[in-house]
Parts: sequence; structure tokens; C-alpha cells
Amino acid sequence: MASGQLSRAEALACSGCRHACHVMLYADTKAQLFGRIPIKHIILMQMRFDGLLGFPGGLVNPSKETLESGLTRELSEELGLALPISVEDHVDSCFAPASSSSSSHLITHFYVKKMDEEQIREVERAAASTATDHGLEVLGMIRVPLYTTKGGGGLASFLSHSFIGSARSQLVDAMLRFNLVTPGELHKALTHSLKTHA
Ligand code: GTP
Ligand code: MN
Ligand code: MN
Ligand code: MN
Ligand code: MN
Ligand code: MN
Repeated sequence: MASGQLSRAEALACSGCRHACHVMLYADTKAQLFGRIPIKHIILMQMRFDGLLGFPGGLVNPSKETLESGLTRELSEELGLALPISVEDHVDSCFAPASSSSSSHLITHFYVKKMDEEQIREVERAAASTATDHGLEVLGMIRVPLYTTKGGGGLASFLSHSFIGSARSQLVDAMLRFNLVTPGELHKALTHSLKTHA
């Protein structure tokens, strides 16, 4: 386990901590941009109410719900459908850097769930129609471009946007861990992205 990380059990043992759970939903695809650039994978993120990019999910209250049922509740609000998330989908838990607006520690739990392309499309349709948070806490779901175009657009440009908390490094780490980009492609994109912060 890398520094800053804690196990699920250690995280739950922190009584005074607040907990947030977020999930990266992704699928494989054979689709090609312009009929020639392989899209390879669809990764879902969202444009939040505060103008920052992040993953769907939110604050969970472990005294009233499990981490995973709390995450499923947040997904019903933000995506408009109940998506069962299990302990097996858990990737890591980390302390978020102390914020000035709150005295209690925030632990962020990250999950990754692979779906079919059609299931991802269903999530996108529900998020834009029946989700109660649509247009409020969530301004829209977006897909992450994993390719690099001739002009250097694609993943590098995407990573230059502003992200909430550690969402950018959660994305980068998960792309590597689940082999969604090669280390070489990722290195190139990180080098060309304007913002090099974690
Ligand atoms: P409310 O219903 O308004 O309380 O929002 P929420 O429950 O949906 O909470 P939110 O998704 O904003 O997550 C709670 C906190 O977790 C945020 O204030 C951020 O500090 C942090 N956070 C939000 N999204 C992400 C994310 O994608 N990754 C990480 N690491 N942290 C996030
Ligand atoms: Mn066109
Ligand atoms: Mn929410
Ligand atoms: Mn949220
Ligand atoms: Mn919430
Ligand atoms: Mn809410």
C-alpha cells in the first residue's frame, strides 16, 4: 500500500472521520473516432456543480449504511439508476488533504467497475433524464478521451482541466492499473498536459 493509503478496515475504524465514496465506471469499445482512431475504452466522469471534474459518488454515513450501499444511493441520485457496487470493486482508501472548511478528516474511498458498452449508454441516458441531481449537483456525464490526436489533443488536453480533490490522480492510477492506456502513452499525455500537479 502506498503512503497516505489505508485499508478499508482501518478507514472504517476512524470514528471522527467523514467518508466519501466515488466510482470509475468503464467499458471496452470497438468504436473509432473519425472511423480511424480507436476509442478503446469508455471511462465516465462528471462535470460537477462547482465546475470541476470528478467521479460519480458522494458522502456516505457508515453509521447508517455500508460504504457500498451509500455509494449505490449516491449513484441513484447522480446517475438516475441503482447500480450495485460491491466490496470487490474497492480499489483504495486515502486521507484527503485537510480542508479549511471542515475540521474533521475526510477519507475518500475509490471504486472501479467494468460494465458493457450498452450498460454505460444506459447510465448516460438515465443521468441526463431521470437523475434527480441532473442540472443541479451534476451538470452532465462526460467520457474521457484516451487517445492523442495529431495536434496533441485528446488525453493531454483532458488532463489539463481542473479536477476535484484527488480525482485526477485516481483517474491516472486507474488507467494504468486496469491497462486502459500504456505507460508510454500516459507519460506522453502527462508531459503535454498543461497542469502537472497530482
Ligand atoms: P452532497 O450531496 O451535496 O453532500 O454532495 P455529495 O454527497 O455528492 O459529495 P461529493 O461527491 O461532492 O463528495 C464529497 C467530497 O469528496 C467533496 O467535497 C470532495 O472533497 C470529495 N470528492 C468529490 N468527488 C471526488 C472524486 O471524484 N474524487 C475524490 N478523490 N474526491 C472527491
Ligand atoms: Mn463531427
Ligand atoms: Mn451526491
Ligand atoms: Mn457527488
Ligand atoms: Mn450526498
Ligand atoms: Mn446531494
